[in-house]
Amino acid sequence: MSAMEDILIVPGPDVAAILDGEEAEVMAIVAAAYAAHERGESVVPHSCFLPLPGDRNRAIALPAYLGGERAVAGVKWIASFPENVARGSARASGLVVLSSLATGRPYAVIEGAIVSARRTAASAAIAARALAAAPPPRIGLLGCGAINFEVLRFLLVVWPHVERVLLADLSPARVAAFAERARARFPGVAFATAANWRALAAGCALVSIATTATTPYMDALPGGELRTVLHLSLRDLAPEVVLAADNVVDDADHVCRAQTSLHLAERRGGGRRFIRCTLAEVLAGAAAPKRTADAPTIFSPFGLGVLDIALARYVWEQAARDGKGTRLPFAVRSG
Ligand SMILES: NC(=O)c1ccc[n+]([C@@H]2O[C@H](COP(=O)([O-])OP(=O)(O)OC[C@H]3O[C@@H](n4cnc5c(N)ncnc54)[C@H](O)[C@@H]3O)[C@@H](O)[C@H]2O)c1
Repeated sequence: MSAMEDILIVPGPDVAAILDGEEAEVMAIVAAAYAAHERGESVVPHSCFLPLPGDRNRAIALPAYLGGERAVAGVKWIASFPENVARGSARASGLVVLSSLATGRPYAVIEGAIVSARRTAASAAIAARALAAAPPPRIGLLGCGAINFEVLRFLLVVWPHVERVLLADLSPARVAAFAERARARFPGVAFATAANWRALAAGCALVSIATTATTPYMDALPGGELRTVLHLSLRDLAPEVVLAADNVVDDADHVCRAQTSLHLAERRGGGRRFIRCTLAEVLAGAAAPKRTADAPTIFSPFGLGVLDIALARYVWEQAARDGKGTRLPFAVRSG
């Protein structure tokens, strides 16, 4: 006798419907995954980068296992095609596959770009809350794409009273489209445009960087009110800037790879002493939020696969509970 084992496929609209309005829950899931990773309750092999034909096209596989009460294993497979944006679609696309810890068999396929963007934004907002001494009077968003839109959504959950946001992007059209969408979504916030990254960084206490730059161009951070930098795209800051700053990461082994600014800084500085601590250490109270009161702190998260699978598991649970997604017979079970 044999029977089919089901797999639940959860498409993007269902993932968005499940996660919209659940920002606090998403942040709790991400914070718990960071803490478990810090305790060594995870296995996170290095991400595998696959360059693809075309200008800067690539796909990345992020396999991971997360232990504890809500143990989960799986892989995120995500592609980045920057030219998609000019064609009117998103740069990133992908999925997360979850595998049973009892049988090894895949049981869920979850749309991955939304999961990836929300976990990235959640980690940025958690870092912002932990590292910034006070709510910033004005937030700067460098790079007006999908990731910074999500970062804005989560930052406004952490700090609902932020009234001013400054935007900058190489593409004026991207700034205009972002501002229009953001004004409609967050009517209580005033959006303005900065001429370039220097003007943006000089005018904000907190800046989130999410561009598609592949080589560093930010050769200095301004003095003044800038206190916290969320360096999500990882390749914008010159290595000298990183070496001079207070650096907090998600995982030093992961982030010092793939030509990130920290990887370049490690090579330039002959080690990783410039990295002060992980975000999980700050969250656990084992490290201070800042090295000194006046130097900007830079948070550089490589983006760990444990965050993707932890959030994908939550999506799978909600989808299974609410009858969302499509259940298909997948594997043959003999018996
Ligand atoms: N660290 C993480 O965990 C993590 C996770 C997901 C995505 N990311 C990164 O976030 C970045 C943004 O992703 P996205 O989906 O928003 O991309 P996107 O293509 O939607 O938007 C990126 C924007 O950056 C702008 N840009 C490019 N170079 C610039 C520069 N030098 N100065 C100012 N603006 C510039 C582009 O014009 C574009 O509007 C990517 O680099 C991606 O790899 C990081």
